[in-house]
Amino acid sequence: MGRLIAYMRRMKRPILIHPDPRLKKVCAPVPDLSDDLRVLADDMLETMYAAPGIGLAAPQIGILQRLIVLDCVKEEDGEPRPLVMFNPQIISSSDETNVYEEGCLSIPDQYAEVTRPKVVEVEWMDRDGNARAETFDGLWATCVQHEIDHLNGKLFIDYLKPLKRQMITRKMQKLKRERARA
Ligand code: NI
Repeated sequence: MGRLIAYMRRMKRPILIHPDPRLKKVCAPVPDLSDDLRVLADDMLETMYAAPGIGLAAPQIGILQRLIVLDCVKEEDGEPRPLVMFNPQIISSSDETNVYEEGCLSIPDQYAEVTRPKVVEVEWMDRDGNARAETFDGLWATCVQHEIDHLNGKLFIDYLKPLKRQMITRKMQKLKRERARA
C-alpha cells in the first residue's frame, strides 16, 4: 500500500473542530521519515492553503504526530514559502513580546489577541529529512508557536480568560451541532 499511497498527491483532509479530545493530546515524535509522512505533509499544505490558513498541525486532521506546516507570506503576489516541520522545537525565545489577533482553523471565525515572545529560534527536520534551524520574527514567530502548541494539546483560547474561552467553546459546540444536522 505504501507505493499506492505515495502516488495519491495532495488531498484535502477534513479539519477537526474544537472541542475534540484529539486536539487536547500531546503528540508523539516522528521517528523516521517515510513517503506516507511526506504525502501527509503535502496533504496538510493543500488543506491549509484551501482553508485558507497560514498554519496547520497534524492533530487538527486527527493525526497525533509532531508535524506542522505553515506559510505566512501575506502579500497576494508574494512568492509562497511552504514550510514543513517534523518534530519542531523552540530552542530560544525573546523576552520581548508581540500581540497578534489569532485565529485557528479548528475554531472557525473566532479571533482574540494573544501575547507571545516576539522572536523564537526553532529546530526541526524538513521534508527531506534534513535538520534545520531558523529564527522567526513577527507573524512567522506567532504562527510557529501557535502550531507547536497544537502538538502539545494547547489551543490559542487556552491563553484567554476562562469566561471568554467558555463562550467560544459554546459557539463551537453549536456550530458542530448545526454541521451534524446539515
Ligand atoms: Ni490552530
